[in-house]
Amino acid sequence: MEKISEMTPQRRAELVSELQERYDSFRSSGISLDMSRGNPPRSQLSLNSDILNAVSDPDDCISEDGTDCRNYGIPYGIREARELFSQLIQVPADNIIIGGSSSLNLMFDTISRAVTHGLAGSPRPWGKEEHVSFICPVPGYDRHYKILEYFGIGMIPVEFTGHGPDMDEVERIVSEDPSVKGIICVPVYSNYTGDVYSPETIVRLAGMQAKAPDFIVLYDDAYVVHDLYGEPAVIPSFFDECVKAGHPERPVIFASTSKMTFAGGGICCVSFGGRNLELAKNAMSVQFITHDKINQLRHVRVLKDMRTVRERMDRFGSMLLPKFETVENTFEEQLGGFDAAEWSKPRGGYFICFRLRHGGAKRVVAMCAQAGVKLTPAGAGFPYGVDPTDSYIRIAPTFPSVDDLKKAAELLCICSLLVALENNTPLEV
Ligand SMILES: Cc1ncc(COP(=O)(O)O)c(C=O)c1O
Repeated sequence: MEKISEMTPQRRAELVSELQERYDSFRSSGISLDMSRGNPPRSQLSLNSDILNAVSDPDDCISEDGTDCRNYGIPYGIREARELFSQLIQVPADNIIIGGSSSLNLMFDTISRAVTHGLAGSPRPWGKEEHVSFICPVPGYDRHYKILEYFGIGMIPVEFTGHGPDMDEVERIVSEDPSVKGIICVPVYSNYTGDVYSPETIVRLAGMQAKAPDFIVLYDDAYVVHDLYGEPAVIPSFFDECVKAGHPERPVIFASTSKMTFAGGGICCVSFGGRNLELAKNAMSVQFITHDKINQLRHVRVLKDMRTVRERMDRFGSMLLPKFETVENTFEEQLGGFDAAEWSKPRGGYFICFRLRHGGAKRVVAMCAQAGVKLTPAGAGFPYGVDPTDSYIRIAPTFPSVDDLKKAAELLCICSLLVALENNTPLEV
């Protein structure tokens, strides 16, 4: 592998001139692509048309227990929807509450309630504490950080290890500091490193001793069935592990069908254990009368059970796989011979994590934008949008076509090499 810092001046000058020429030709080609968010592809949305037609006449609107889903009632969701999510997130159906279409909204509400009223075990509402903070495995999901930031909750970054966050560090922090009230996790195909938490990580998260009596784990199962290779990520039930460890109130588990059916037109859920379930229901009984049960019906009729979900998600996974492979192969072809960057090869989820060994992520993202390819802003995977090493970029290959992805990945490689040549010195890892 050729080391950027060890190139002769002549080799360097030749490479810069070749790359600059290729970059200029991209700039003048008029390419215009948005790879900034992980949106489901149109082809997948089209395959979901059966959802639109799943409830088509008044007789269809009755749930299994005889409820007319066109009316008020059943605020926490129809039984069959709770049972479907029960299989997905490995939580008893009685602990699950079905929301509207956005799990992020349920997470916002959970934090909001903690701030105004506190949770099970809280000495006082979080808003009355001098300081409250959360552990944030990085790089992670920018919208999670935005929620915490909105409520003035401090964020403590902890690095990923390839099978979840560095648990030695997590255990150390939570055991010492009572102001650390939680950790935010995407346990399966983490957004955006692709980490799948190992069984050991799950067990340690469930069992660790926290100084805060109201410590919670916000456990976001957004990608729990989003395998790319048809091999399910098998992990233990976090809910069961928490109960076994004597921490029934610790898990707050979220999921939605946003990336299974329709983003914004799907259904979502949250689950709580112990007194947190009661507290959440008390607040929700004030907050709304019912959610869209017709949409819950549509979803359970089409998604049915775990086996049907898996079959469907396998089809979607095989549509996404060529996109991921295109990006990974382009990176390998263009960058494999240099020490300029490294990237994840996820087994599922929606993202590839790209890391520049010489830093300069902001500059690379800006150069791509100038040439017509919009990427997620550099730093977005870090609290307050600040990546201290300025080295990570999130790649979202799900929406663009394979042809567009090939071009975008090539442009990214050109910019990454040019910036590595400019920066010259590798970052200390
Ligand atoms: C980790 C994670 N959680 C939640 C969401 C949003 O979920 P929802 O559409 O259910 O609000 C996303 C969307 O990208 C995500 O990546």
